[in-house]
Amino acid sequence: MKAVLPIVNWYQEYKRDLPWRNTRNPYLIWLSEVILQQTRVEQGLPYYLKFSSQYPTVKKLAAANDDDVMKLWQGLGYYNRAKNMLKTARIVVNDYEGVFPDTYEGLIQLKGIGPYTAAAIASFAFDEPKAVVDGNVYRVLARVFGIDEPINSSGGKKTFATLAQEIMDHQSPSLYNQAIMELGATVCKPSSPKCIDCVLRMQCVAYKNQRINELPVKLKKPKLKKRFLHFFFIEQQGETYIKQRTNERIWHNLFEPPFIETPQEIEDFELFTLVESQTILKNQYMPSKTFSVKHQLTHQTIYAHFWVIEVPKSYKLSGHIKVPISNLHQYAVHRLFDKFLNYYTLQHN
Ligand code: ADE
Ligand code: SF4
Repeated sequence: MKAVLPIVNWYQEYKRDLPWRNTRNPYLIWLSEVILQQTRVEQGLPYYLKFSSQYPTVKKLAAANDDDVMKLWQGLGYYNRAKNMLKTARIVVNDYEGVFPDTYEGLIQLKGIGPYTAAAIASFAFDEPKAVVDGNVYRVLARVFGIDEPINSSGGKKTFATLAQEIMDHQSPSLYNQAIMELGATVCKPSSPKCIDCVLRMQCVAYKNQRINELPVKLKKPKLKKRFLHFFFIEQQGETYIKQRTNERIWHNLFEPPFIETPQEIEDFELFTLVESQTILKNQYMPSKTFSVKHQLTHQTIYAHFWVIEVPKSYKLSGHIKVPISNLHQYAVHRLFDKFLNYYTLQHN
């Protein structure tokens, strides 16, 4: 059993006096948390004051006119937050008789309330010992315990959530949760943390090992790769050429026409020069570009162009199978080819 982080006394002495800290009303706590998502306290504070005076209860908010709410939200950004806030308020009124559930398990059932917000309301309003885990908490824990595991990996999320729960002060859940967030926001800041003023300095691994700037570790999002694909839909007396993808990371085992990939978007004449040196269309007439489509995958954006070309009887293409165009629907094809075929079929009927 790890020791509880001794931060509650520090918090009581040094905390900022913020209006949502002087209430146990779950509605007002929820309201403050929705406003403070992706928003700094200084920016969110006037909005909290406006909303809590205009809509002092969840019933008042649920009954509000949508446009009035959006108007009051204006300037805060991420407008979906306001829309979802209204939705959740109406669920609380319609399905819960206007009363927020008083446990974490009850709160998390509510559509629109996630693990962080459920833990915040359960602890701040009802003193349930449920640790909040937000960016502040990740940072404090990674530094105090010297944890290298990335905070945004699935393993890391589990590690930090388990640790956060283990070391929370079960005697004062509300104060403890607010304390760790406050420490992260005002002392253990992302850059230039005020270690000299920090109550955890003596036990902080990052401070001791001078690793403050290395922690927490966050995995970088892979850059979105752009790919440019040119497919050649070859018409040969009602037949065409396709090939099955094997050993590919995407669209494994699906069928597609022959194609070439270019490192960037290129002019048509450049492509013509390029295909002349390729086996696909050697010595053939130039195709015409008939269809372009952009396709978004998780880590790549694909810009695909489909070129149609009619070839004479003597044309041969190795490594591909020749199939009647009217039979193409019997083959499993990827989304890009499917989109082209829909277009092509429309043109030829
Ligand atoms: N950011 C998110 N929730 C907060 C809270 N309750 N107090 C201060 N900052 C916060
Ligand atoms: Fe953060 Fe510095 Fe305190 Fe460690 S000593 S918890 S790095 S502020």
